[in-house]
Amino acid sequence: MLTPTSVRDALHSTGPIERVLVQGWVRTRRDSKDFSFLELNDGSCLRNLQIIAKNTLPNYAAVQHLITGASIVVRGALVASQGKGQSWEVVADSIEIVGASDDSYPLQKKGHTPEFLREIAHLRPRSNLFGCVFRVRSRLAFAIHQFFQERGFVYVHTPIITGSDCEGAGELFRVTTIDPKNPVRLPNGEIDDAKDFFARRTYLTVSGQLEAEAFACALSKVYTFGPTFRAENSNTSRHANEFWMIEPEMAFCDLNGDMDLAEELVKHLVRDIRENCPDELGLFAKFVDKDLLARLEFVVDRPFQRISYTEAVELLRKSGEAFEFPVEYGLNLQSEHERWLTEKHFKCPITVFNYPKEIKPFYMRLNDDDRTVTAMDLLVPGIGEIVGGSQREERLDVLEANLRRHKMNLADYKWYLDLRRYGTVPHAGFGLGFERMLMFVTGVANIRDVIPFARTPGSAEF
Ligand code: 4AD
Ligand code: MG
Repeated sequence: MLTPTSVRDALHSTGPIERVLVQGWVRTRRDSKDFSFLELNDGSCLRNLQIIAKNTLPNYAAVQHLITGASIVVRGALVASQGKGQSWEVVADSIEIVGASDDSYPLQKKGHTPEFLREIAHLRPRSNLFGCVFRVRSRLAFAIHQFFQERGFVYVHTPIITGSDCEGAGELFRVTTIDPKNPVRLPNGEIDDAKDFFARRTYLTVSGQLEAEAFACALSKVYTFGPTFRAENSNTSRHANEFWMIEPEMAFCDLNGDMDLAEELVKHLVRDIRENCPDELGLFAKFVDKDLLARLEFVVDRPFQRISYTEAVELLRKSGEAFEFPVEYGLNLQSEHERWLTEKHFKCPITVFNYPKEIKPFYMRLNDDDRTVTAMDLLVPGIGEIVGGSQREERLDVLEANLRRHKMNLADYKWYLDLRRYGTVPHAGFGLGFERMLMFVTGVANIRDVIPFARTPGSAEF
């Protein structure tokens, strides 16, 4: 039996092959007098493999009806191609038609809008652009694991169902099996959470950080890489309700070590994709973002800038720009501010650190000025924030005071406080948004177009 050869391997062949088996989907068919030419794609790479179907094939009449989208299995010889732009083609001995297609196949014509393609998210990976996006997504995930594994980090699977709100922002999806029509109630009429499946309130996680901290305080260097969920009603090009996050956490590490690692990671990922996905980047540079290659080159070549939040606010106030949102010490930086800093002012990725404690979560380490915490956000041109992180508060008394200040229930965080009770250490970590990183390396402007089946407000089809 002949084992199948991928289109990618066939195109990279070092010599002719007498008998090959290739399989995939027809992109186009072109007929000449004695032949049909089929362009075959199997998603293994951007390029198609040309199949020559001679009119002597027993089912040649059926082959001449093959149209875009049909699936076929081809047996034949891999031979040097006469045509330009390709090294190898297959002269078919047989073409088995596995699944026909018809004129209603939605990916016939070129130039569909992104909105239309989102409606056919089950078919869009068959297009050149989305094939490229999802191959890069796969490679990026691999490169992330490689980066951490090579540096001695241990991969930890933190829970997806959790009782804690890591970011304290209340953007949680409830997980419950309570029957909404017939809940068990307390004497005061409220629903009795103790009767719910986990005997308490539970949610989909917004971040694996708190659990990662527990493991860092045992295995020293760890990372999580998994799905996270936010019930935020932000209909923007950079927010999804289900996204993947990479969260390293390091014991015996401070804010500087944390910023160094984030910069090293982002550079490593850009370098890896440039090296391993050149065809895909070429397509993005041609059709998605013509400045992409220059920007990526710039990123790997230069150190990122670092400025404090206080300096960032001063720069923004002196900028003379008419921002939509106010700039004032103590307010969050908005997307327009982040983008001005990284795109207009510094023109390179920047890390902003030491934010006012009032606008950051309870777990960040309080600085000696008593006003700021050791937060850091890494901002990149075109997107804004792709990394958020901090050194963690390792002092038990200060952490307890932070929880109280944030009006959080100390009993819910007993296990987390234990980490400070027994062998506490300075430690730090961050979260890199996987999709935002993917947007950065591909130039794709909308987060919906780098997720196989995106979850956004009002939309969870497929
Ligand atoms: O800044 P965030 O909220 O930080 C945390 O969750 C920390 N617990 C991480 C840590 O220190 N371990 O989120 C981290 C990153 C952001 O910088 C952004 O890239 C991405 O996650 N992110 C989102 N990506 C897509 N859609 C959303 N709704 C996102 N919210 C955050
Ligand atoms: Mg953030």
